Amino acid sequence: MSKKVQSAFFCQSCGTQSSKWLGKCPSCDEWNTYVEEVINRDKKTKSWSRKSDKTNTPSLISDINFTDEKRFTTPDNELNRVLGGGIVPGSLILLGGDPGIGKSTLLLQFALQMQNKKVLYISGEESEKQIKMRAERINKNSKNCFILCETSTQNIFQQIEKLQPDILIADSIQTLHTSLIDSTPGSVSQIRACTGELLKFAKETGTTVFLIGHITKDGSLAGPKILEHMVDTVLQFEGDRNHMYRILRTIKNRFGSASELGVYQMGKGGLRQVNNPSEILISERDEPTSGVAISATIEGVRPLLIEIQSLVSSAVYGTPQRSATGYDGKRLNMLLAVLEKKCGFRLGAKDVFLNITGGIKIDDTASDLAIISSVFSSDQNIPLDMNICFAAEIGLSGELRAVTRMEERILEAEKLGYKQIIISKHSKVSKKDFKIIIKQCGKIEEVFSLLF
Ligand code: TYD
Ligand code: MG
Repeated sequence: MSKKVQSAFFCQSCGTQSSKWLGKCPSCDEWNTYVEEVINRDKKTKSWSRKSDKTNTPSLISDINFTDEKRFTTPDNELNRVLGGGIVPGSLILLGGDPGIGKSTLLLQFALQMQNKKVLYISGEESEKQIKMRAERINKNSKNCFILCETSTQNIFQQIEKLQPDILIADSIQTLHTSLIDSTPGSVSQIRACTGELLKFAKETGTTVFLIGHITKDGSLAGPKILEHMVDTVLQFEGDRNHMYRILRTIKNRFGSASELGVYQMGKGGLRQVNNPSEILISERDEPTSGVAISATIEGVRPLLIEIQSLVSSAVYGTPQRSATGYDGKRLNMLLAVLEKKCGFRLGAKDVFLNITGGIKIDDTASDLAIISSVFSSDQNIPLDMNICFAAEIGLSGELRAVTRMEERILEAEKLGYKQIIISKHSKVSKKDFKIIIKQCGKIEEVFSLLF
């Protein structure tokens, strides 16, 4: 008797299953995302399962004994930072990023650095030789790092039972497949099933599992959104491939802050941690140039001084261009409108290009004042003093608003040798505590009369 092939339709954007094809997904409202996938649940092959089948019973919350999750730290301080202070055993961590950005390099380097933990690096994309070559480039050696080139989760779990690793790295989740489901690797149902198996394995054994995930053209993690819901932590590795700086960002973290940031530099010998990012984000200049302003921002828990560059030129075509790299274009438009309305600058017929240097993306509103000043400086072609930096939010009526954690921003500016910082008059700081000159203004007009 022939075996009946079962199939179902899955939304490729959110993973919703349906027995028939649908034009529009009822769950995420996307059009034309349903694809037929074969699901052949073969009961004989087993996925990860523990011998003891203990059922959980309800317990009083006051009885649950709480020992702060015992995190272990890695030799990589940037990784510790984005994970909220170290790795929580049993956590499932997803690392996403564009192809070629350095995801495999980052995790292989981490695997080689962990000296007292057994690490199993599973690769579905590269051969053992290729990985060895990369390890040679990174120039690290380890007695605890094992490599397995395998894509079937059933085989992987067999090897895991023999090896008993403390940390598992799967490169990448899109290449794994489970024999419980017949559809091709990389399809929504496969990704979901493999992640589900690894999740169960991580939680039952307390093994930390890292998953590498690909990113689609529009910048979201490939595979269904459901993947991000299943894991404990989502990290994103980003940066301009032409730049050597790479930024590791926390998108979601069940065990810590979700706005952390780690900075690396890609070089000949792999990724190197950058301990003081402010220094590299500000380009060396001998003389002041127009259109450049320094913003004292906070990324995660860390104050960061970032250089903002703008270029204002007269529009050649009828509609002026507005382009922002590393910054929200809508917010730029708002700031330009404030400049136009409150200060009377005619930017309507000008192209405005804004660039945050170093390939960084910022969304701290404290950079408003630096952005407005840099646009104005470029428009007037008057350079700003190289020793001034800015930290204030701009309101719609052109007022300077206070931002959080002012002391840390001021301290960082002082540490890097800035002589003056311009902030809102509503920020409460005691000027006596700092050597740097703190200028407090209420409106942007005041700032401009001070600067130009
Ligand atoms: P890789 O880790 O393969 O990226 P991903 O896994 O995200 O696709 O990154 C490879 C890139 O990094 C490649 O372009 C070469 C570069 N690289 C270096 O510049 N130096 C090094 O030491 C290594 C190992 C890679
Ligand atoms: Mg890779």
